[in-house]
Amino acid sequence: MRILVTGGAGFIGSNFVHLIRKERPNWQITVIDKMSYAGNMASLDGVIDDIEFVKGDICDEILIDKLVANCDVVVHFAAESHNDNSLNNPWPFVESNLIGTYRILEAVRKHGKKLHHISTDEVYGDLELDDPNKFSEETRYNPSSPYSSTKAGSDMLVRAWVRSFGIHATISNCSNNYGPHQHVEKFIPRQITEILENRRPKLYGSGENVRDWIHVDDHNSAVLKIIEEGLNGETYLIGANGEKDNKSVIELILSGMGKKPGDYDHVTDRPGHDMRYAIDSSKLISKLGWKPKYTNFKEGLKATIKWYIDNQDWWKPLKAETEQKYRKTGQ
Ligand code: NAD
Ligand code: TYD
Repeated sequence: MRILVTGGAGFIGSNFVHLIRKERPNWQITVIDKMSYAGNMASLDGVIDDIEFVKGDICDEILIDKLVANCDVVVHFAAESHNDNSLNNPWPFVESNLIGTYRILEAVRKHGKKLHHISTDEVYGDLELDDPNKFSEETRYNPSSPYSSTKAGSDMLVRAWVRSFGIHATISNCSNNYGPHQHVEKFIPRQITEILENRRPKLYGSGENVRDWIHVDDHNSAVLKIIEEGLNGETYLIGANGEKDNKSVIELILSGMGKKPGDYDHVTDRPGHDMRYAIDSSKLISKLGWKPKYTNFKEGLKATIKWYIDNQDWWKPLKAETEQKYRKTGQ
């Protein structure tokens, strides 16, 4: 099996490469990543000598054509991934998430290869706090931000290429990931590293907003399951019943790091801030027999805090620039 991993130097993609190296030692892995601010070679430490790494852009038609021609399956993680950045400058999101996915689809169509497209639950918009329903594969798309709308558009492109051109593709929409190698712009690593730099965590708005947390290794074990056993043209939602409001997560981080639970600040809210995400992953569980391993969020969070304490060389170089960006929006 020759697998092409787009965005393999990012958070989820690099964890996926480590998982595949361990679980499927015979697979040949090629990573393509343009090494944006979010790409980090250090995330591939320990596997880099055992994979092919190509620095390049998924929007590069000629490069993508060549790489897709030489693989059996493409797993497409590459994207601009941060909502706050998309509110400050949407263009890179339109470019990488829409045009980049288009380039991949055209190469997959031309060479008759398989594609697994990685997407997010944010394509469904948000739920009320007291809504008894969760997102399912049947929920109507209703994205809120430039990030989620470009991801929604990329999903639609994949569906159209399956129906109109008969390409072989699957899609997964996952909830919020946490774990090692996540960029310090994202909620959980931002708060852990703020505390490590002796500043207070920063909660947007009231902090009632709910996210459905899943450990990155559980996301990736589901992706592997779908690549091997998923049915052509199908969409699978990935989640692990991890709903928590942001205020509770900050309090857990603070107490896990020996601080008082109230030691945080409320900062400017995100415009258009989605209230709640929640995933019903019963299709994945019943049809493919997938199960998450990290069912105890507190334990997973403890291990993640330890990873950021033990790997300061990995995140320190990213921290100052990230906080400078946040200062401009009062966040
Ligand atoms: P990330 O920002 O950490 O990594 C993205 C990687 O893609 C980076 O290494 C970056 O350099 C690369 N990239 C971006 N544009 C590129 C381009 N044009 N060409 C080549 N490489 C490019 O993101 P992540 O959190 O690892 O997310 C990966 C995927 O998972 C994304 O598609 C995202 O929408 C999806 N997703 C993320 C989450 C989450 O909680 N982080 C949840 C569900 C789905
Ligand atoms: P984030 O990690 O940006 O993921 P997403 O926007 O994809 O859900 O944010 C998770 C939640 O945390 C979201 O409700 C916004 C909130 N948040 C804060 O309260 N403070 C912060 O410093 C950040 C970065 C996010």
